[in-house]
Formats: sequence, C-alpha cells, structure tokens
Amino acid sequence: MRSLISIADLTNDEIEEIFTLADDADKLRADKVGAGQIMATLFYEPSTRTRLSFESAMQRLGGSVISCSDMKASSTAKGETVADTAKVVSSYADVLVVRHNWDGAVQAMAEHADVAVINAGDGGHEHPTQTLCDLYTLRKEKGELKGLTVVVCGDLKNGRTIHSLVCALARFGANVVTLAANGMELPQYVIERLEREYDYAFAPVPSGDLNAVVTETDALYLTPKQPHQLALYTQVDKVIQSQLSSMSTGLRYDALYMTRKQKERMKEGAASACYPTIGPEFLQEKRFQDTVVMHPLPRVDELSPELDKDRRGIYFKQAAYGVPVRMALLEFLRRSNRAPRPVAVKGRRSYRSPEPIGPKCHNVNCITVNEAVSTERRFRVYFADHIGALILGCDYCDHRFKVDYVGNVKTKRYSSFDNALTDTIREWWDKGELALFDSIKEAEELGYEPTQSSAQRILMSEAEIDNALAKMSQQILRDCRDPDRLLILGVRSVGSQLAQRIGSALEAQRKRRPELGEIEIYGSGDELRRVGPADPDLGPLSLKDREVVLVDDVIFTGRTVKSALSIIFRSGRPRSVRLAVLVDRGHREVPVKPNYVGKNIPSSESERVRVRLRGEDREASDHVVIYSIINPAASAPAAANSSRERAANH
Ligand code: CP
Repeated sequence: MRSLISIADLTNDEIEEIFTLADDADKLRADKVGAGQIMATLFYEPSTRTRLSFESAMQRLGGSVISCSDMKASSTAKGETVADTAKVVSSYADVLVVRHNWDGAVQAMAEHADVAVINAGDGGHEHPTQTLCDLYTLRKEKGELKGLTVVVCGDLKNGRTIHSLVCALARFGANVVTLAANGMELPQYVIERLEREYDYAFAPVPSGDLNAVVTETDALYLTPKQPHQLALYTQVDKVIQSQLSSMSTGLRYDALYMTRKQKERMKEGAASACYPTIGPEFLQEKRFQDTVVMHPLPRVDELSPELDKDRRGIYFKQAAYGVPVRMALLEFLRRSNRAPRPVAVKGRRSYRSPEPIGPKCHNVNCITVNEAVSTERRFRVYFADHIGALILGCDYCDHRFKVDYVGNVKTKRYSSFDNALTDTIREWWDKGELALFDSIKEAEELGYEPTQSSAQRILMSEAEIDNALAKMSQQILRDCRDPDRLLILGVRSVGSQLAQRIGSALEAQRKRRPELGEIEIYGSGDELRRVGPADPDLGPLSLKDREVVLVDDVIFTGRTVKSALSIIFRSGRPRSVRLAVLVDRGHREVPVKPNYVGKNIPSSESERVRVRLRGEDREASDHVVIYSIINPAASAPAAANSSRERAANH
C-alpha cells in the first residue's frame, strides 16, 4: 500500500508527475476521478489550510469526506491507541489524512491501516504535503528548482515544514541558506541526512548581507559539497570570515521562506526568546527586488502585513495551491494503489533488538516513547567511522543517538563499542545475534558479562587528574580576554563532567561561576544546552561573541572535536573557541591542536585510553587507564562455556 509519510517516499520524477496532475486539476475535477472515494481526516492538532484544502480537494475530485471534528471528542479521549484508531478508520475510508502531535505517529498509523495514509504533519518531524505545495509554488514562480537559492528563516528546529523542504530542495539541486533564530537551528539528524544522502555541506555566510531583513540570526549556506567546505579552526572568526566573505558577494536570493516560532513545541523560556521578523525594510532593499517571500502560514508577528500587497509576498498564493496539489496527490496515490508499481525500497534494513531490553529512542516526543504499544523498536544502524561511534536512527522520528554497548546473544558477552569491532558487529547483525544496550545495567540485567580485554594499566590517578584540571583552569583564565564572556562547553558525557569540574575550579579562583554548557554530538534535538539549575528565564544558550572553551576527555583522531566545532559554528558566532583535553594521545587525522592538555599519552591505534570518573559505571575513583581490546568473537567459546556454567549453577 502506497502512503506518503516522508517527502523521501517520493522520487523526483514522482513529484514532477504530481505537479503535472496539479497543472491539470480542472480536468481531474471535470472527470470526477475521485467519485466513490471516501477520505477520513484525523487531526490531533489544529489546522486550517492542510485540513480544509485536503477536504476541498477530495470533494472537487468527486469523493467525500468523513472527519472527527475534534480528536479530543473521539475515543482517543478514552485511551484508544493510534494503532487501533488507524485500523478501525481504515475500514470506513479509502485514504486517511492524519496530523499528530507526536513525531512518527503517522508512520505508526500507516503500519496498522489497511488503506493509504497521508502525513499532514507529525510533531516537529515532517510535513511532506506542505513541501509539495512549496515546491509547486517555487516552480510556478521561478521555473526550474535546480540552482535556486532559498533562504529558510526562523524556527528551523521545530518547524516540520522546514525539515521536509530542505531535503526536497537539496534533491532538486537548490542551494539553501539557513537563518535560524537563536537556539532554533536545524536539527542534527536533518543536517546529517543532507550531508550523507545529498552530499551537501554547510558553510557560514557573513550575516551582514541579510541584516537588513532579519535580526538576531546567523546565516549558514548549504550547498552541494564543493566548493564550500565547513572550515575547522579553533580560532574561527577571522579565518572563516575571510574564507567565506566572497561567498555572499553575488549571491542571488530567489526566495525567502519565513516560519512561525513553534511555541507549542517549546519550553517556556525558549518560547519567549527573541525572533527575527520580515518588515518593510525588505521591500526597500534593492538586492531583494526579485526575492519572493513564502510562509507556510499561519503567521503570528514575524511577517509584516505590509508585504501582503507586494508582488513578492506570495504566501496566500502558496496556500491556495494547496487544493490543486492535494487533488493531484490524492489522484497519484489512488492510481498507484489501484495498479501497484514497485516502490523504491529504502536501502537500509532496520535493527530490532533480539532481547526484551534494548535501546530506546531519545526523542521525548517520539511515538515510540509516548505509545510504545503502537510501534516496534526499530532503528537504522550507522557505523560512524569518522567519529568512532555506533549510531542508531529511529525508524519513526529519524532522531539519532549513540549506542555505547554491544553484545552477542549467543555468547552473552558485552563490551563498549569500539571501531575495531565494526566487522564483528556487522557479522553478528547478519546472523541475528547483535544485542545493543544503552547502559551496562541493561546488559547485566539480561545476564551478559563483560568481554575480556588485556590487563588495564592506570596512567593517571585521581590526584593527577585533579592537578591537571586545576592547572588547565589557571591557563584558561590567564588566556581569557573577558572572563564574563567565558563559556565552558563539555562534550557529552565525560567531557561534560570534566567541564563542570573546570567550572568549579574557575569559580574558586574568580569567586564567580562561569557559564557551563554541554554539547551532544549525536543528540536528539538539543545539541547545545546549559548545565546547571534550569532557569527558564535564561532562554537558549547563546554563543554569540563568547570565549568558548570546548572540553573533552581524550583526543586521538580529532574527529569528535571536528563534529563539536561544526555544531558550534552552526549555532552561533563565538569570539573564539579554545580546546581543553585531559589526555592527548598524539595521533591526529584532522588539523586540530588542543590549547590545554592535562597529559600527553602517546598510544597506538590498537590501544584504548579511557577516562573513568567516580560514579560512572560503578567506578570508585577517578583514573585514566590504557588497555588493548580482545575481539569478543575470539573469546566466544570461553564465553559460551561460562554462560553454560552459570546456567548449571542456578
Ligand atoms: N501550513 C499549514 O500546515 O497550515 P495549517 O496548520 O493551518 O494546516
């Protein structure tokens, strides 16, 4: 059954086919191609455009519509799951159009429905039919999509229309400039998708070029990978500015896509943060004379009504295209499901835990977290060699997170993930033997035992770690131009704990605590966040003009730091970024040099250096250890014996 859950479900040719049908909407109406069809609209969140344009579209096609006027007045209020609702309503209708407040909920409903399901917006995840309207509008206004430069502005983090749109623009070969409101940058999973699937790269654009339009933003330019690469320097400002200033010169902005602050998806502090607006200045700027202004609507106060009468303000036309485009989509799906044609299979198979306990999606708004019974725990697996991590991507909401522990269901052994195990892990996965865990506790609850490693040698004791952190704190303060602008930013999780200790040492010296934050390389939305007592009045963490000290536990290849720097540069314009690490292993693949080092421990690729802190994984004291890993596959027979012995002893 063909549904539309993500914009990725349609090929470019299919999107073109839908647009051709939309161009012929009058004919579809005259031919009453939808006669006898029933469409059910299930909107768990408010809507004007999407719901009414879908209902209008089906009626113009000659079909009819059934609907729940308010899902709170449906059996959802009695606790009916989305799975059951989808199953039941699909026996009353030929197509379901669903909007839901949870990310991935429409995917879950499609898995339980017997008819086509269309995603009319799921939480902060995707809104593919809005993207069809946006692309259709752009094509009508500008001709080809390839080569256009589109500025997307505002709440790029929570705006589901943006997540679908930027991927579609990338697929059609457009350039994207992101102008995120502070703290509302594009989520990491969207960026990774752009980088991995479409070979796009980010580069900052001097925001002066767009200052006339918006305030309180920094610009980034997303483009096919050449010629602009994200620069990686620990002192960013001068280098990046000089390298990229030429980029904005001559940039033609074809469209500016403004979005509303999605207050309904924000915590209180963030909801009151300042937000860019498009006002009358825009009308006067000569360089924007051919830039059309788009908005998925509704608008609140980010888009001045003064633009309504200007030829460039095309957002009402964009909303009006909702009817022909949705007529075309309904007809496209009807034809596809009447004469099923092969659907492009998404290349990747999913990981399902063979154990009753296993990784959970970290996105608190994901359907798998809010209504697990309607879903299965399924993940795409990414071996992120560039940062030496194993990453899972939720099949429902696309959010990504790192998994730390891997095990084998047969041998009942587990170990920390290590790049050296990649081939072994692939083999286990092929055989259905791979068990992944979020924590040691999970593995041990299932009776798994640790994999053998060589004897561990302690290279730094608790006292040495204390001394090293105290010394680094003094150096940081010495080099700091304005201590009030200092931001100590730890890489989660050990780096973040070390950053807090450095923060305490700085507080002891200055009698004032510096601002502390942490950075999540593979997070579920909030890559940057404050550390410390939650104060909703503080708003999102700002990097603008800050003297950032990035703290990590160990530097080896430099890839983790590279990823952290990429998040930092994407999220704001710090005055400087310096790097502090407790251990420098001496090898480097990327040109990053730490400014502050606790101890140099030259070591080889076959060795592991771990910083273990008190309280973590039941550690009794702080220490740094070195050891070699023994491939768990090699220790399998012993492990199997040991688990048999355990069983016999019970
Ligand atoms: N653009 C859009 O989704 O509008 P509604 O919320 O009114 O459907």
